[in-house]
Amino acid sequence: MNIPSWVVCTFTLALAACSPIEEREVTSYELIPQPAELNYSQGQFILTPNFTVVHSPELEKEALFLKELLENMWGASVSLLSGLKPEEGCVQLLLDASLTEEEAYLLEVSQSHISISAGSDKGVFYGIQSLRQMIEPVLLLDKPDRIYLKTVTIKDAPRFKHRGMLLDCCRHFMEVDFVKRYIDLLSQYKMNVLHWHLTEDQGWRIAIDAYPKLTEVGAWRTEADSSQYGGFYSKDQIRDIVSYAQERKVMIIPEIELPGHSTAAIAAYPWLSCTGDTIPVQHEWGVFQDIYCAGQEETFEFMETVLLEVIELFPAPYIHIGGDEAPKTRWEVCTHCQQRIATVGLKDEHELQSWFIERIGKFLEKNDRQIIGWDEILDGGIPEGAIVQSWRGMQGGITAATRGHEVVMSPTSHAYFDYGVKSTNLEQVYHFDPVPTELSEKEASLVRGGECNMWTEHAPQHLVDSKMFPRILAMAEVLWTPLEVKDYSNFYERVQNHYLVLDAKGVTYGMEALPIELEGVIEEGAMIVHAEPHVSGVEVCQVIESDCVDLPAEGIKVNGEMELEFRITRSGKPYGDNVLAQVHAHRAIGLPVRLENIYSPYYTGGGEGALTDGFLGSMDFRDGHWQALQENDMAATIDLGEMKNVRSMSSRFYFYNNAWIFLPEEVSYYYSIDGVDWKLLESVAHEHPIQSEDQAIIPFATAKHEAKARYIRMKAKNIGFTPHWHDAPNEPAWLFCDEFVVLAD
Ligand code: ACM
Ligand code: ZN
Repeated sequence: MNIPSWVVCTFTLALAACSPIEEREVTSYELIPQPAELNYSQGQFILTPNFTVVHSPELEKEALFLKELLENMWGASVSLLSGLKPEEGCVQLLLDASLTEEEAYLLEVSQSHISISAGSDKGVFYGIQSLRQMIEPVLLLDKPDRIYLKTVTIKDAPRFKHRGMLLDCCRHFMEVDFVKRYIDLLSQYKMNVLHWHLTEDQGWRIAIDAYPKLTEVGAWRTEADSSQYGGFYSKDQIRDIVSYAQERKVMIIPEIELPGHSTAAIAAYPWLSCTGDTIPVQHEWGVFQDIYCAGQEETFEFMETVLLEVIELFPAPYIHIGGDEAPKTRWEVCTHCQQRIATVGLKDEHELQSWFIERIGKFLEKNDRQIIGWDEILDGGIPEGAIVQSWRGMQGGITAATRGHEVVMSPTSHAYFDYGVKSTNLEQVYHFDPVPTELSEKEASLVRGGECNMWTEHAPQHLVDSKMFPRILAMAEVLWTPLEVKDYSNFYERVQNHYLVLDAKGVTYGMEALPIELEGVIEEGAMIVHAEPHVSGVEVCQVIESDCVDLPAEGIKVNGEMELEFRITRSGKPYGDNVLAQVHAHRAIGLPVRLENIYSPYYTGGGEGALTDGFLGSMDFRDGHWQALQENDMAATIDLGEMKNVRSMSSRFYFYNNAWIFLPEEVSYYYSIDGVDWKLLESVAHEHPIQSEDQAIIPFATAKHEAKARYIRMKAKNIGFTPHWHDAPNEPAWLFCDEFVVLAD
């Protein structure tokens, strides 16, 4: 265990050799999230394990929380005293009505005592969590008889009121103790919302008395290997979790998805769907066509009964009703749904979804609950009072706020922690600002905060830590710390110190970022690759056959197409898997590419030169190399700088129809002497079965030619929209390309 530099150990010399450590001194406080104001003063306070918590009578629970915490961490013996007058050496918890911000607190370490005051129990609780972070690193090293704490005044309050994490317990089931552990971890970093995703295509996880088959049938799926997978939470377990969360000031917002992502419920009660067909609980990931029928009244009787039971369990004033990714194919051909459209006077199925959500919203409002929904609830008109959670970028949140709705921001660009660090690293999360610059001050005040989303298709319980940590520390600071106080390099240092505490708590955190950044430079037409460490303290070597060799200072020269492999270690231990890079030094590397249609801001591939940077996209389509656009064709033109003999052109495309990524119908390659008159070199089609469920990289390559040209062009024809047989038909199809390889001499 490394002792962090900021814990200064002072020994009484005579005792050092034979006695346990008596004293420790803490000279600076490395809190996450960084408080709004933290001012040290000259002096020290001595905390001993046998202290008294003097507390306002209303703060008994918080006092008890602090007592149990310190007794567990220190073996301390803490007494509680209800009263307002601090004693020498005590920790005072004080409710102070003059402090009006709900979660704000004032923490003062003076030479005589420690005082935490706030206008509410929540503020006091956050003061306790700050105090905990101040002493926890010391207590994890040993159990000293005294801790010398530098005197300090901390004035703190959150920037946002909604500081959340979504936990998907449907794709993979999470044990009760695991959920509680996350509630505990959230509260330690002053996060206050657990958005609990409880119903899905792949499993219904909440017991509902009126509909027992939801858990008897809907909680279990048959995996591809015929094994049964599943689980659910009983009402007693849920009550226990809710109460645990309340003690830690975490509000649990249950998510009951409708009208889509509802296969598990339909598997239990087939009459909920338009067709009434019996279907299995899904064992694959994606978006599915069978959703709740909006035409039949039974659907609403079911939903209302379910929601009343949900309301009884969860005291939060909000219910998340999902609303995302609901294909309309069944509704389009359902006589009940079409009848509903006609009788209500709706324009189409989008308005039907909006009517569905509004009806549920009104029901919830009558029962004192406000709805939160994914940004799709904006389509076709959004019910009054609904809160929008923006996930498809920030635009949904912007639209909602300009229409006067409150907003929670969790865009895929910064807040999807199921994505790897290649697409969202620690620093990117830290620079997330939930308030878009497009909003006026009044609209900005509608941004309640944000959430980081832990979808678990690819994360069973044992992998969740490695995806959440350390990035959740950045999100905690984004959502709490005032903008003007945020500072990435300072945060990064604090994170290094927090690893010690996370280790001791058994948090199996993952990587901060891809540990090395590969850079290709073109020198005299050759590609040279440099690997720069991107995470502090890592060491890098290149794997060549079974050896790992130091990187040549002049970089690695690439010949033709090759795979580079790097091993990264930190403190002698592997830091993530080996990094692999597929590189190709071809004639067009480093040359500018002129694009007719601009690429998506979410998949830039690195920007302008992505198609000719020599690095090839991998099987992870979010690896940062793939350049993508939606609905449009990809048309790229390159000036080779002088006349060349072009021998062949090729480009690689990604295929994954489940993620709406399709191959081009065909790719045409052209050449030109002057950039004005163009000749077709060859059009290339593919033979990959378009309905196949695999993920694949498909090269489109011309045969060998001899074409004299200075200019070359590739045009890849997008299929435009997802086909009628797709689970989400008629949605804009993606085209993912990397790289545009040119062989010429
Ligand atoms: C979502 O990620 N479908 C909200
Ligand atoms: Zn229907």
